[in-house]
Amino acid sequence: MAKIGITETLLRDAHQSLLATRMTTEDMLPILEKLDKVGFHSLECWGGATYDSCLRFLSEDPWERLRIIREKCPNTKLQMLFRGQNMLGYRHYADDVVEYLVQKSVANGIDIIRIFDALNDTRNLETSINAAKKEKAHVQAAVSYTTGPVFDLEYYKNYAKQLEGMGADSICIKDMAALLTPYATYDLVKAIKETVKIPVQVHSHYTSGLGSMVLMKAIEAGADVVDTALSPLAMGTSHPATESMVAALSGTEYDTVLNLEALDEIAKYVSTLRERYIADGLLSPKMLASDAKALIYQVPGGMLSNLLSQLKQAGKEDKLTEVLEEVPRVRADCGYPPLVTPSSQIVGTQAVYNVIMGERYKMVTKEFKGIVRGEYGRTPVAIDPEFQKKIIGDEEPITCRPADLIAPELETLRAECAKWSEQEEDVLSYAQFPKVAVDYFEKRANKKYKVDAANADSENKVHPM
Ligand code: CO
Repeated sequence: MAKIGITETLLRDAHQSLLATRMTTEDMLPILEKLDKVGFHSLECWGGATYDSCLRFLSEDPWERLRIIREKCPNTKLQMLFRGQNMLGYRHYADDVVEYLVQKSVANGIDIIRIFDALNDTRNLETSINAAKKEKAHVQAAVSYTTGPVFDLEYYKNYAKQLEGMGADSICIKDMAALLTPYATYDLVKAIKETVKIPVQVHSHYTSGLGSMVLMKAIEAGADVVDTALSPLAMGTSHPATESMVAALSGTEYDTVLNLEALDEIAKYVSTLRERYIADGLLSPKMLASDAKALIYQVPGGMLSNLLSQLKQAGKEDKLTEVLEEVPRVRADCGYPPLVTPSSQIVGTQAVYNVIMGERYKMVTKEFKGIVRGEYGRTPVAIDPEFQKKIIGDEEPITCRPADLIAPELETLRAECAKWSEQEEDVLSYAQFPKVAVDYFEKRANKKYKVDAANADSENKVHPM
């Protein structure tokens, strides 16, 4: 029996991290049946940015992709990433829409739903956790990992305990910004394992070059499952390589019992994809290098490049050091949000304004106001009321669960998109990405019209009147 489970991220996070989520279903097809035979703990294959990318860039129906993967991989658990009340989109949705997306995801083949909230506000997870339980999916509740004065072992133990209490079947430590270091990981996993009875999985990124060491220490501390990516799309901003992890653990008490030769056969095909992605300019070799800047500045790599480009636009590139010193102060002011999307952009942009305007909070962005007002949920540390007053003025702060302020919206959305709808799931595409979904629906209708016309044509040729 395998002691350590492997979640293969090739079909979701690996290409989301390296090539802006542009892997097509057609690219996946030749290896799906082979992936199904490897014996992975799960295949992460859906959710996150894949849904948006299918509609926006690939002219694909994300639901059709999921059904194809399910059909070709009947023996492996399929896993998706879900941003709590934000689902797969960019705002808070009403509970009825969240419940419907969970229900349809499970009905179309998802077994494990990894659910997280960028602020670690459990209230933003309630609806999706309850919906997933109702659909009998495996609920993996994720802790968004970050660093900072309040994020000690007690904070994480307490949060993990709450997630277990809400009905989570397992806990994921989600280090999306690649801030984990090996020994910090060891202590964190050990602390959480001692606190909860459910399995613990670790998700990190290779960005700063520590990924493999992080997973190894996680495993030694008792982690049950780790996330990796097949070698041709591993490392860099992606994950440690699956084959290397399997080899490293082989013959030990942590054996994954996965077959290296079977993996190698799949990797051969993925290498051809990688060559093509590089040739097409989708995959920049820069993404594959390791970059320790995140560890030096304690800001995620993506955030650093955003700060630089904002300063460049303002002609103030010389102010980078000042901005990097301002980031932790702004973050403290707004209650120490973990620096992940969207809070990393919100804090970063406000820090840039504070520096280039020469006066702190002389200019405040709409989004910064939003986070201070409580529109995104409760921040890890309460915001000083005086500071809040200074930023939002007479506006009423939001102290309830933000989604409590959103009326049911599923029926309205259904009516709005009825004329394009070809399947029940279409309303969920429309709910999350209204403009992009309509563009896709129209393309889909045109294509079908063309195919119908072509069929009619060929029939005419076969049976000339
Ligand atoms: Co990730």
